[in-house]
Amino acid sequence: MAAALPCAIVIFGASGDLAKLKLIPAVYELLREGLLPENFALIGYARTPMSDDAFRHICRDAIAKFSRTAKKHGVDDALLDRLTSRAFYHAGQYGNPEDFSRLRDRLNEIDHACGTSGNRLFYMSTPPEAFEPIIAGLGQSGLTTRHAEHPFQRLIIEKPFGVDLPTAEHLNAICNTHLGEEQVFRIDHYLGKETVQNLMVLRFANSIFEPLWNHRYIDHVQITVAETVNADDRAGYYDKSGALRDMVQNHIFQLMALVAMEPPALLDARSIRDEKTKVYKSIRPIRESQVDSFVVRGQYSAGEVGGKKTDGYLKAKGVPPDSRTETFAAMKLFIDNWRWSGTPFYIRTGKAMPAKMSQITVRFNAPPLTLFQKQCESPVYPNDLIIKVAPEEGISWHINGKVPGGSMNIRAVALDFLYNNTFKKEAPEAYERLIYDAIVGDQSLFIRGDEVEAAWAVIDPIERGWQRSTSRPPEPYAPGTWGPRRAMDLIELDGRRWAQNNDEPQPIIACAV
Ligand SMILES: NC(=O)c1ccc[n+]([C@@H]2O[C@H](COP(=O)([O-])OP(=O)(O)OC[C@H]3O[C@@H](n4cnc5c(N)ncnc54)[C@H](OP(=O)(O)O)[C@@H]3O)[C@@H](O)[C@H]2O)c1
Repeated sequence: MAAALPCAIVIFGASGDLAKLKLIPAVYELLREGLLPENFALIGYARTPMSDDAFRHICRDAIAKFSRTAKKHGVDDALLDRLTSRAFYHAGQYGNPEDFSRLRDRLNEIDHACGTSGNRLFYMSTPPEAFEPIIAGLGQSGLTTRHAEHPFQRLIIEKPFGVDLPTAEHLNAICNTHLGEEQVFRIDHYLGKETVQNLMVLRFANSIFEPLWNHRYIDHVQITVAETVNADDRAGYYDKSGALRDMVQNHIFQLMALVAMEPPALLDARSIRDEKTKVYKSIRPIRESQVDSFVVRGQYSAGEVGGKKTDGYLKAKGVPPDSRTETFAAMKLFIDNWRWSGTPFYIRTGKAMPAKMSQITVRFNAPPLTLFQKQCESPVYPNDLIIKVAPEEGISWHINGKVPGGSMNIRAVALDFLYNNTFKKEAPEAYERLIYDAIVGDQSLFIRGDEVEAAWAVIDPIERGWQRSTSRPPEPYAPGTWGPRRAMDLIELDGRRWAQNNDEPQPIIACAV
């Protein structure tokens, strides 16, 4: 692992949920793993007035409740004391230059007290409306200026990065005014997940996949990111976004880019991000007039899933009764390049689904000669390579095998690789990996400015198509189902089907020879 230089980690929005649930626990885990520099400091910044001690109390509480190791084995008190002795809080507004000047002075003091050498990692964990004033405040107070004697001033930006192409371009322009691209770390926490990183290892460290990884041998690819929770608790916020912006533009597109990209020339940030960006630029645009043919949108109705009842999305607090915001989206995309020409990518995401599941299914073509089928009633099932991103992390290969016995019974069997079983070592949380990478300056798992714009350029015409009065409104679906019927039609009319809960291999053939 690269050595981390001394640095101060400054969290904007430190009074918020993400800081407590993920960021502060991640800093604790990095300290526990010996991945933080000896000289570090953790500074919380938000508008809520709070003393250093009150912030230290929040840190203790968050670590005890949410750190992955503390939950299992209890807190390491010595480490916790070390962390809190280097934790500070600074209250301020986001749009007030004087507050940023005071922050700069405070950070200079902390540099002296904690030996953090003027290196800073700023983490923007606020709602997006605060991003622009924070970047401007940092820039105007000189906190992003690169000094020869200070190795780094870096900025992690939470999602969402814009709500469409123009807003993403605008935010990129603000970043470019105050920072160099090498200082900007746009986060998508999916990229910090072990399985997602393993996708590149699977593809580029194993020679068996590459010859098959193209339109000649792959029938299609499916990506599902399903949540059982509904949007009722944060419907006011969600209504401005919807499934397409909240999930597809970032998490699902990142997964798709890693499946579809060409091998990078090097395993460095520039080469990897070049290849991912090319994927977005190769996606065949869905024109506004084509939206209803290639995209399905839905809204959950009244019902129950996972023991949680809902009166339906349109009845949730903060949602206008005529809202057309989608809580479910499914679409068929084509990547028009030499590797993927003609191979559909089906993607779907939704709330109030029957299972929490993020997985990629790569479905290979059926054998060219239907040897067994000649004597049997049902067809041999094609091979699936299933990449499980959540809740389990692992890979499953479905192949056809003979059932022992005198007759030729065939069924699909799974060759499974599950992270936890194989490595007997708990995978780090995505935020641990990403904060560490930002401290050591590795941008490979962060999104580049042109990459985020290329992704929005695919989404925007769909959103515009949906705004047309002639476009179909979102179709209702019952909580606990896999979305509206048209989402099934989207794939089934092509002679394929969604791989729901495909963990259970399905019997393929039962025949006597
Ligand atoms: N929560 C998650 O699991 C999660 C997951 C992925 C991404 N994110 C992203 O991470 C960011 C932070 O999420 P969060 O759940 O922690 O948000 P949050 O709790 O709503 O907000 C974080 C803090 O920002 C401040 N804040 C709230 N509204 C503000 C406004 N309009 N202008 C300026 N400051 C405001 C508040 O602190 P003060 O009032 O004290 O200033 C609040 O404690 C968001 O951009 C979110 O999209 C969150």
